[in-house]
Amino acid sequence: MTADLGITIAGVEFANPVWTASGCCGYGEELARVFPLSRLGALVTKSITLEPRLGHPPPRVAETSAGMLNAIGLANVGVESFIDEKIPFLARQKTRTIVNVAGSTMGEYIEVCQRLNDVEHLDMVELNISCPNVDKGGMQFGADPSLTEEVVKSVKKVFTRPVIAKLSPNVTDIVEIARAAEQGGADAVSLINSMVGTAVDIETWRPRLTNNTGGLTGPAIKPIALAMVSAVHSSCRLPVIGIGGIAGWADAVEFLLCGATAVQVGTAVFVEPEAPVKIVRGLREYMRRKKLRTVNDLIGRVRKYG
Ligand SMILES: Cc1cc2nc3c(=O)[nH]c(=O)nc-3n(C[C@H](O)[C@H](O)[C@H](O)COP(=O)(O)O)c2cc1C
Repeated sequence: MTADLGITIAGVEFANPVWTASGCCGYGEELARVFPLSRLGALVTKSITLEPRLGHPPPRVAETSAGMLNAIGLANVGVESFIDEKIPFLARQKTRTIVNVAGSTMGEYIEVCQRLNDVEHLDMVELNISCPNVDKGGMQFGADPSLTEEVVKSVKKVFTRPVIAKLSPNVTDIVEIARAAEQGGADAVSLINSMVGTAVDIETWRPRLTNNTGGLTGPAIKPIALAMVSAVHSSCRLPVIGIGGIAGWADAVEFLLCGATAVQVGTAVFVEPEAPVKIVRGLREYMRRKKLRTVNDLIGRVRKYG
């Protein structure tokens, strides 16, 4: 029996549920030298802002015991260069393209999405309302239910394809934020972005990042992400895209069981660029072994106690 890895979110069909996470493979050019991007369900770009940004000065990444801290500061080429220089490459790849969008103000999200709406080869946008590493915008939107609803609603007015809201774990109740995104008209939610953390060099007494704090990612955050995916899946009707510490196919299976329709692979790509391809292969073998015909046979099927 062959396993069908295809999934559909908001009417868009994906060959498989394994995507890359924003900020972990730029605009796809380097990863395409490692494997054909057609092996991915989708490629999610680095966050794009209205103007180009250089981000924070180095050091802006630091390794931790079970993950890494980063405070890149949304370094990116800006929407104009993205459309002129990066989209032509992405258009030639036989994978879905999801453009992650960030902004300091409501107007910035709207303007970037307005410009992206004219771009033919682009399947969805993912709104980064959860970046912990910028002074203005980012996480402020995703920490406030009414701002979350408003930013999604405003973007939906100018962007005619599906919109994913990417949620922050640095909140008291992520379910409340997911519901606000749903209320605003989001087509899906993705979670989680990184968790605020820090690390200190005990010789210099300096934080190990020039931003003083950063976002913790990698295996350390996986149990937190799983619990949040499970909670949002149980109380929200939107498809959930699971992110956080996925390094192997078994991690992906856990996320699907907890209610994710698709998963994104971030930090693991820095350690092993082929990780997403191995995850697709492992998932297919697992489904064959378990005699599962479609990914739907796994989504949300965790057998909870009580
Ligand atoms: C170096 C780095 C840069 C990131 N940049 C972005 C970004 O630009 N936009 C965004 O929404 N998330 C960004 N993220 C967060 C990831 O997309 C993902 O949500 C997070 O890393 C958790 O997944 P992981 O544990 O698999 O890495 C970044 C993460 C890392 C490690």
